[in-house]
Amino acid sequence: MMTAKTTGFVPVCPLSALADGTAKSVDVAGEDVCVARVGDEVFALRDVCSHAEVPLSEGVVESDGTISCWLHGSRFDLRTGEPDEPPAWEPVDTYQTRITDVDGVATVEVSRHTTQETRS
Ligand code: FES
Repeated sequence: MMTAKTTGFVPVCPLSALADGTAKSVDVAGEDVCVARVGDEVFALRDVCSHAEVPLSEGVVESDGTISCWLHGSRFDLRTGEPDEPPAWEPVDTYQTRITDVDGVATVEVSRHTTQETRS
């Protein structure tokens, strides 16, 4: 259940800088966050694989809404952060995203707090 905790969003990049089927690493309040685009949807999760701590943003974004870790191939659900196959078995924290108009430019914004933090 969502609480009344104010999350706040941070602008991270123009939507045009994140091509469909790609991911990039951005800084959100001092945390490395992987933002990934699938069609018109943008997702965000902590940019650290839960297996061996390599950047997930260097993985492969799949059209089914997952990102594959480049090192050992675990695939993480971009919505939930859950891996669907070993060797990773711990989920990765996720963040809410939104796309806003900033001075006429469609801009990706990411919540300062993880989805898991806003639920606690
Ligand atoms: S480092 Fe990501 S699956 Fe091993």
